Amino acid sequence: MTARDVRRRVEDLRQQINHHNYLYCVLDAPEISDAEYDRLLRELQTLEQQHPALVTPDSPTQRVGAAPLIKFGEVQHAIPMRSIKNAFSEQEVLDFDRSVRKSLQVDVVEYSAEPKLDGLAVSLVYQDGVFARGATRGDGVVGEDVTQNLRTINAIPLRLYGSGYPALLEVRGEVYLPRAAFEALNMDAQARGEKTFVNPRNAAAGSLRQLDPKITALRPLAFFCYGVGAVERGKLPDEHSAILAQLRDWGLPVAHEQKKVVSGVQGCLDYYRDMAARRNRLEYDIDGVVYKVNRLDQQEMLGYTSHHPRWALAHKFPAQEENTEVLGIDVQVGRTGALTPVARLNPVFVGGVTVSNVTLHNQDEIDRLDVRVGDSVIVRRAGDVIPQIVGVLHARRIQGAQRFRLPRHCPVCGADVVRAEDEVVARCSGGLYCPAQRKEAILHFVSRPALDVEGIGEKLVDQLVEQKLVETPADLYALTEEQLAGLERMGEKSAANVVAALENSKATTLARFLYALGIREVGVATALALVQHFGDLDALMRADTATLQQVPDVGPVVAAHITAFFHQAHNREVIERLREAGVHWPAVKLHRSSALAGKSFVLTGTLETLTREEAKEKLQALGAKVSGSVSSKTNYLVAGADPGSKLDKARALGVEILDETALLKMLQA
Ligand code: IVH
Repeated sequence: MTARDVRRRVEDLRQQINHHNYLYCVLDAPEISDAEYDRLLRELQTLEQQHPALVTPDSPTQRVGAAPLIKFGEVQHAIPMRSIKNAFSEQEVLDFDRSVRKSLQVDVVEYSAEPKLDGLAVSLVYQDGVFARGATRGDGVVGEDVTQNLRTINAIPLRLYGSGYPALLEVRGEVYLPRAAFEALNMDAQARGEKTFVNPRNAAAGSLRQLDPKITALRPLAFFCYGVGAVERGKLPDEHSAILAQLRDWGLPVAHEQKKVVSGVQGCLDYYRDMAARRNRLEYDIDGVVYKVNRLDQQEMLGYTSHHPRWALAHKFPAQEENTEVLGIDVQVGRTGALTPVARLNPVFVGGVTVSNVTLHNQDEIDRLDVRVGDSVIVRRAGDVIPQIVGVLHARRIQGAQRFRLPRHCPVCGADVVRAEDEVVARCSGGLYCPAQRKEAILHFVSRPALDVEGIGEKLVDQLVEQKLVETPADLYALTEEQLAGLERMGEKSAANVVAALENSKATTLARFLYALGIREVGVATALALVQHFGDLDALMRADTATLQQVPDVGPVVAAHITAFFHQAHNREVIERLREAGVHWPAVKLHRSSALAGKSFVLTGTLETLTREEAKEKLQALGAKVSGSVSSKTNYLVAGADPGSKLDKARALGVEILDETALLKMLQA
């Protein structure tokens, strides 16, 4: 290549890279894959290495590579970066609009409505279209020079796109971390045993204020702009919404999909409700919306107070994070004996509900957060997600606060607490002697997929266990109406109902009974599989772990739980007493000799004589497994009319394919 060819190729590559960056970051409509993009970038890097004279500061290769700083320089903002007045209620929005209309002497005002991104404000200065300097907001008058770090953010163009921009253009906007990137960052930190960030905002702030831009470059920060600051030698449109559209054309990302020009205060409030409903589905955190008077001449007439513009208002959403204090840490004991630490909080209104307890899950989580009784903590509740403690305000820790350790003895029964080496969960070893486990075991026994006894809830079980009327599920069947009627919140009628429900529950199935026993890791599906394999309870109780593992989906852990359960004399006694009380089930027909036992079927398409549900039941009754998707483990695919892609997959895997006639023959055989 001649020197001229190289120069041309370098310029061509830069243009292509900038264009694809614009498509990706601004229009959200990429046209090439990441790999192709990387190839273009690498080619440019190579050419620049070979011809260092061609390197320019706005080349896309110049995002990383700057040396770490000792400290950030200071930047005086040409125009102060003011904040906006906050509104927390509709009334405040109505008041704002009234005063705007009064000052402007108009009936209806046009507003530009935008999301209020929860990141940190920055100013970007473009000189002749080239990114020259970037700064944080700081105190609004003086900020920090974070140019090197901002250059690493792909969404910030190093050179403006197109033409017609002012010779000096200061763009203002928000640097933020998309939620998915935040979660990935925290997962990594957790895996390395490092401190996690409390929320995307803190993570963005922490990432932008790194002295070493190489660290910032590793954090996938994003940027969107919401306005302009200083402008020299050039003209911008005379409406805010048109300015944003113009900035977008110059290659600067704006919240294009979310922003909207609305008419009057009603338009603002509708926009607010719409964004509140969509908030949790956005890719980034927003903490409210911003209304801005759209016409710049009107903005000018309104002017500024000493703190904020009179033409803008931030309408905040109810907070999803609040601070509160940990009053105590309780330890709850579950059905399987698992100890769960629960933080009792000074009640706090967050994310639309009052939160007074949050689970701390286990000792590892407590250690990770290092949360102690008396600590000030940040509680977060977003959408329907369960509330959680996301961080401790260590600076506010009171002196002498002690690390919290789970007790060595069960807080309910005093038995030893054990934690298996490879488990995060600590458990009470008291088994059914532990009243806490007893309560949970009884609630499990009466639950719908188990013996399905109506009318026995938590409150009743608490009383039954505390008054020692019931120690094991077998005791339920000895309860009399008189005993029940004597309890709190129980009338004669409900007592009679409970006794009748218990009587009804005696006629059950072996699978339900087995599930009801509450053996660890034996859920509904495993109980069914065990019943289909063993047929009766005595055979199952005698089985050793090797035999148990012949059952589909039963591995060494489940098998060990099952044998351990039946080895306990106490458990065998409970079973015996339940049978004596009249709990019974129909004999199970075993089809072990059936050719279909253990075979795996997938059904697709419409069958003529049977529904798919009926076919599934018949197959299962013969010991076959019916699954929803074809894999190499599938033995037969039954294809009815209009089969879907499962048929293609089965063919590809060489799975035997049956039509309905063949299936019926098999079922009859
Ligand atoms: S306009 C003079 N628009 O909220 C008005 N600000 O309290 C300048 N923010 O410092 C700000 N999204 O960091 C504006 N769409 C938006 C915004 C937004 C987030 C932040 C910004 C500002 C603070 C105002």
